[in-house]
Amino acid sequence: MRLSLPNSSLALLLLGSSGVDGFSSSISSSWATRRATSPLFVSIGLGPDEETKERSEMVAGVDYEIPNHEEYRLSQRSKFDEQCDVWYGQLLGEDNGVLGPLAVEARKILNTPVPLENEIRAPVENKEEYTPYVTTRLPWTPITPAFGVEEYGLPIPRRNAETWRHFDVVGMVEQDYSTIPDGTGSPLELSEDEVTDIADKLKEKGGWLDDDSCSGRLVYIDGRFAPQLSMTNDVAQSLDSTTNLSDEVKTYLARLTDGFTDELAAPVVINDEGDTWSSYKKLSGPDHCIGEATSQFAINSQQGTACFAALNTARTGAVAYVHAAANQDEEIDVPKPVLIVNAVTSSGSAGDAEEGKGVAFHPRTLVVADEGSRLSVVQSCVDLDSTEEAHRPKLYNGYTQLFVKENANLTHSYLEESGGIVTGGVEQNDDDIEEGMPNPREVESQRPALKDTHLEAIDVHIVGKGGAYQGTMMGLGGSGRARTAMSVTLLRPETTATINGFALSGGAQRTDMKTNIHHIADDTVSRQVQKNMIGGRATGAFRGRIRVEQSAQLTDSEQLSRTILLSDRSRAWAVPSLEIIADDVTCAHGATVSDLSEEELFYLRSRGLTTAIARNLLMYAFAGDISACVDPTMLGAVDSQEGLQKRVIQRLENLVPRGQRAIKGEYQSV
Ligand SMILES: *[C@@H]1O[C@H](CO)[C@@H](O)[C@H](O)[C@H]1NC(C)=O
Ligand SMILES: *[C@@H]1O[C@H](CO)[C@@H](O)[C@H](O)[C@H]1NC(C)=O
Repeated sequence: MRLSLPNSSLALLLLGSSGVDGFSSSISSSWATRRATSPLFVSIGLGPDEETKERSEMVAGVDYEIPNHEEYRLSQRSKFDEQCDVWYGQLLGEDNGVLGPLAVEARKILNTPVPLENEIRAPVENKEEYTPYVTTRLPWTPITPAFGVEEYGLPIPRRNAETWRHFDVVGMVEQDYSTIPDGTGSPLELSEDEVTDIADKLKEKGGWLDDDSCSGRLVYIDGRFAPQLSMTNDVAQSLDSTTNLSDEVKTYLARLTDGFTDELAAPVVINDEGDTWSSYKKLSGPDHCIGEATSQFAINSQQGTACFAALNTARTGAVAYVHAAANQDEEIDVPKPVLIVNAVTSSGSAGDAEEGKGVAFHPRTLVVADEGSRLSVVQSCVDLDSTEEAHRPKLYNGYTQLFVKENANLTHSYLEESGGIVTGGVEQNDDDIEEGMPNPREVESQRPALKDTHLEAIDVHIVGKGGAYQGTMMGLGGSGRARTAMSVTLLRPETTATINGFALSGGAQRTDMKTNIHHIADDTVSRQVQKNMIGGRATGAFRGRIRVEQSAQLTDSEQLSRTILLSDRSRAWAVPSLEIIADDVTCAHGATVSDLSEEELFYLRSRGLTTAIARNLLMYAFAGDISACVDPTMLGAVDSQEGLQKRVIQRLENLVPRGQRAIKGEYQSV
């Protein structure tokens, strides 16, 4: 699709079915054999609506009552909202992690609630001060920002917040995660036997590369750095204080996710005269500006991650720091990857804490690819032991920041495989369960990792001309809830972002993958392929937002998302959205509804394969497209016992429908 629109266009254009519900579809089994393009939400220009132009005037002689804003704040909170705030407060606790002044600053932001102010009654014609996203009824009504009634200075998860829709906020907030692993902040000392034992386990789980297959290795166990298992050098280090850090590194580490840091990661050229802007809220102003940090746009941009990123900064016990130095050579070899492993034990290293209390840890990663460098980074999250023994509920709150400078080329893989393996067959009817076999639904409901929550925010900034980023996220883990939110900002011309994602959800899981691609500089390219597979009784949501600013002319963007539902008890939401302010852009977008193709199945069967085998091959091909984008050293051969490909197949096979549905052999996808 090519959109060519005049600058002045303020039209709100909705393609596909109308209304807000049109772009959020809950897919039921009646979608079985359709092949179609899903409704697409495209908006061009996001100006004020008509209503907000009518402003109430104050009338002389009337005695207006100025409301008590603190009372108002409290009156707006529901019981559950309060519970969310209490839950968050326990995570924040009193103690800071290793980031010293940066932790203090993050805590200060969190402990300063958003002021509720009176409406500023600016004349409508003065566009600079226009506050289009606020509707008020009376003078002196407190302005309710998009958030601000929480106790904290950043938006906290809420059941009914758009960014947390479809996620199991209730399940997360009802679980206590208030302790932290013993020894957080100090390196882990292991005996020689333990080193060998853990290295063997990591090899078995896939969280390992030998010294000669990687250019650095940082191993963390329950958030603590394990020097004896790591290989550190100039490229890969683990930081445990801010003492010797450069200003640049400190600035990077202090950043919150976009929208809540007004300063852009690099100033953006906004006209032919070379004027620059470094303020996030000025983008596409005044009509389509992103607005204040409290506005809905900031909330959309940060996808619910800001309070967790700040929490991570306040509490993290170690920072994995990967730094590729500038390189002037034209031709440089494809580098060996740097591997960062976050392994979790079932007890979460909080042995002595009260029974029933969960544990939280806050892994932090900073990757800086300097001018002209080539770098490959693999992040691997794995279990160290079976999640059955002495299990303590765990919250993994990761925050990864990546900065790509001029002509640097960064390849990044995020592999989430922790939380055990979900129970297959939970979608079966009771009649289909073989006699004498345990009911898989009961087995799944007892699985301890259902109490675990895995959160990760990945924040990418391409800050140098010609920078390239290739990111692949594989969500394969078995935690009860998992949420990965990636944001990529293209701040310089001729930059490229390629993003591939695969999310597998089964058993009774709730998973969520979100991406936000923000084109700010002109002449930038983004390519995105997202694939989701949801089986059992799981739910999965994908939200892919692309925003093209006024300054981002000649943007070329493609997004494709496909979801396959493996059972009729699973549910999926795929919500792509495009916000295009610039007028000369090429944005292609597709979200297809199709079965695993009957034709392909027929072809494979005609070659002598059984339906079941043919179907499994097609399933693997669907996931294999994405895993092929992961750094090749992690993949291994399909037929070997090791490697990511093998593990993906094992997890897929586990979710192959059983019982009646397996015989009918139907799959649906959206
Ligand atoms: C900081 O750097 C100095 C000089 O290189 C060194 O002596 C000191 O031990 C370092 N401090 C820390 C905490 O790493
Ligand atoms: C960056 O490196 C990747 C992987 O080696 C390669 O596929 C890609 O073409 C490179 N991109 C640029 C712009 O050089």
